[in-house]
Amino acid sequence: MKPIIFDVDTGIDDAMAMAYALNSPELEVLGFTTCFGNVPVVESTRNTLAVLEKLNRRIPVFEGADQTLVRGRKKKYPKHVHGEDGLGNTLQFEPTIKASQGNAADFIIDQVKSRPHEITIIAVGPLTNIALAIKKAPTIMSLVKEVVIMGGAVNVPGNVTPYAEANIISDPEAADQVFASGLPITLVGLDVTLQTYLLKSKLDDWRATGKESAKFLAEMTDYYMKAYENSHPGLGGCALHDPLAVGVAIDSSFVNTEWMNVKVVTEGEETGRTIGQEDGEPRIRVCTNVESDRFLKHFLERVIGLSNVIESCIKYKGHHFSKNLWEEMACFCWVYRFSLYDVPAVAEVSGWPKKGVRTIYLCKKGPPFIRMSILNDLGSINYKGEQYGNV
Ligand code: BDR
Ligand code: CA
Repeated sequence: MKPIIFDVDTGIDDAMAMAYALNSPELEVLGFTTCFGNVPVVESTRNTLAVLEKLNRRIPVFEGADQTLVRGRKKKYPKHVHGEDGLGNTLQFEPTIKASQGNAADFIIDQVKSRPHEITIIAVGPLTNIALAIKKAPTIMSLVKEVVIMGGAVNVPGNVTPYAEANIISDPEAADQVFASGLPITLVGLDVTLQTYLLKSKLDDWRATGKESAKFLAEMTDYYMKAYENSHPGLGGCALHDPLAVGVAIDSSFVNTEWMNVKVVTEGEETGRTIGQEDGEPRIRVCTNVESDRFLKHFLERVIGLSNVIESCIKYKGHHFSKNLWEEMACFCWVYRFSLYDVPAVAEVSGWPKKGVRTIYLCKKGPPFIRMSILNDLGSINYKGEQYGNV
């Protein structure tokens, strides 16, 4: 497992990225650090805690920068994209879990020092916390294993101005310092994230699981997609900016990269622009292409956290069931709720039935897309797509 520090400014795609990371067995998230960005830092911390609570996970959260390195507080937050609360106006509760004592930059420094050459930092907000950590403890740079950053637009236009991407323009000096620091950076910018689209129809699949956390993610993502509809009419979905950084941290073969030096424009009309140059001693891996279908499939298999449940289903009561349900002729299990989506199948079991047995046979030669769900305890059974099973 890769030990991870995950730096977020929790808005909607950050929340999806959190869920994706926490449901990925390759990653061990040691802690979240929060930054201003999509929302002020206090709200970013609150949202991070709220998402963790919904996902039923307890991971330390350390609050970080509330303002830029040299420009003071951010003047305007993108409520039209992430909602009043940063989570698409879905937040109907104050999280009961609290942030940890201590601040983000110190947490980064302590962790990197205690596990030299092991830690990967995934950063999906403004780079202020990392810049502060470097300033306070410059020696840590050579001890970080990798930094995967969602930010920048090297060969494509920006999304805030024609030149600048949101995370970079939120603190251009911090980004410039981090890029010049010598840290081993992989830059996941709009060049690739705008090639990854989640379509609206997937949100129905998430809701259909009946799982609270999946419904929470679906509702906020719906808001995000509406914002995309304004900026990208007819798209019918949204880009997966922050999730792609997680994908790259898990499996760098999702992207092609080119070595470059990256500088950030800090003055004038082009402020926030990321300029990639191949001369000098290029030290940053800039992502230039992505296998978007393969990444999307990976993301969808994990983001709503059904694979863990498959494991418990597979091991239940000593029966042996194949992990790859699709490949196997038959699988039977006791289920209360069961949903099967694309290949490979994913299943959710939210409780074992007290009485009765359901035997589900999954045939190898079925149609490629099948949806099947038992909606209530031994009650109604709905099929969408071609029925191929027997209950
Ligand atoms: C980035 O900006 C933020 O709004 C998103 O969370 C993402 O990190 C995309 O430009
Ligand atoms: Ca973000």
